[in-house]
Amino acid sequence: MQTLVVEKDTEVRDFLPLNGTDHLELYVGNAKQSAHFYKTAFGFETVAYAGPETGLRDRASYVLQQGKIRLVLTTPMNSEGVITEHIRKHGDGVKILALWVDDAYKSYEETIKRGAISYQEPKTLTDEFGEVRTAGIYTYGETVHLFVERKNYKGAFMPGYVAVEGGYKPGSTGLLYIDHCVGNVGWNRMNEAVKWYEDVMGFKNILSFDDKQINTEYSALMSKVMSNKNGYVKFPINEPAEGKKKSQIEEYLEFYDGEGVQHIAVATHDIIKTVREMKARGVEFLSAPPKAYYETLLERVGKIDEDIAPLQELGILVDYDEEGYLLQIFTKPVQDRPTLFFEIIQRKGAQSFGAGNFKALFESLEREQELRGNL
Ligand code: FE2
Repeated sequence: MQTLVVEKDTEVRDFLPLNGTDHLELYVGNAKQSAHFYKTAFGFETVAYAGPETGLRDRASYVLQQGKIRLVLTTPMNSEGVITEHIRKHGDGVKILALWVDDAYKSYEETIKRGAISYQEPKTLTDEFGEVRTAGIYTYGETVHLFVERKNYKGAFMPGYVAVEGGYKPGSTGLLYIDHCVGNVGWNRMNEAVKWYEDVMGFKNILSFDDKQINTEYSALMSKVMSNKNGYVKFPINEPAEGKKKSQIEEYLEFYDGEGVQHIAVATHDIIKTVREMKARGVEFLSAPPKAYYETLLERVGKIDEDIAPLQELGILVDYDEEGYLLQIFTKPVQDRPTLFFEIIQRKGAQSFGAGNFKALFESLEREQELRGNL
C-alpha cells in the first residue's frame, strides 16, 4: 500500500519567524540626560548600563524599560567614530530596530541570502548569565535591524551590560509594548522599501494609503503598512507626495538628512490615564483638533466606551475599522530637529492605523511646521 505523505506544514514556511520587537536603540547626543527625560516624562526605568565604568571606552548606553518596551540610549564618548558621525548627520534618532528571534544566525543567513546588506555578522556574546546571539542587516537609510536571540540568557539585558537596580524611578505611565514603528523614505522610494520587506524579510503589505486619501490643502503623503507573518511586527513606510507646500515627510527627510524612523507607536490599556500622566510630566502633544471633530465623533465612529469630554480635553483622536475602534495621540518631536516623535495608541478591536485621523493630524502638524518656518 502506498503511503501518502502529507507535509505537516503545507503553507509556505516563514523563513524569518519573529517573536516581537526586542529593543530600539537610539543614538543621542547626551544619553544621561535623554535617560532622565524618558524616565521622568515617559515613565521608563533604567534596568541596565554599559559605559566606561564597565570597560567600554567609546560609548555609554542606558537600557530603559517599561512594560515590554526596551529603549537603549547610546552616546559616543569622543569626537570620532560611527556613533558620533551618525549624530552629527541625523541628530538624535533611532539607529536600531532590534527583532527578537529564536535563531539569530539563521535569520541573518536567510535575509542575506535574499539580498540584505550586512551590518553585523552573527556573533555570540557570553557572560555568567548565559549567551546572547546577534546579527544585523541594514534597512532604509542608515537604520538597522538587529536579530537578537536570547533564549539562553538570564541577565538584565546582554553580556557587556550591568544590571541597574534602585535609583530614580518616577513610575510607569502605563506604556505596555511597541505597536508599530514607522519609517520615512525618500521620493518614490516607498515601493522599493515595500519590496525589500517582502523579498528580504518575508513581510506582507497589509494596508495602503495614497495621496488621495492622505492629504490636506497643502501637503500629502503615501503610506504602506508592512507586517511580518504572525503580525507581531509592523512597519508602516511613508514617502512624501506632491502638495502645494512642503509635506511633513519632506521636512523630516531634510532635518534627519535622509531616511529614518519617523515615529514609535506604544500601546496602553488606558489612554486617558496615560496621556494625562504624561502631560503632567511635561510631554508635549500635538494640539487638539477643532471642536467640530468631537461634535461629530460619535456619528463617525459609532458608540465608544469613553466619555468625549476627557478625549477632547486631552486631544485624543478616535478612528474605527470593521473590527472595532482605536484611540491615538501624537507627541511633538522629542528632540529639537523635527524628526522622531511618539504615538500613544489604545486599540479596542481596530487593527488599522487611524487613517480617518490623518487629515486632522496633518492639519495639526502643519500648524507646527508653519511655526518652525518649514511649511
Ligand atoms: Fe502610527
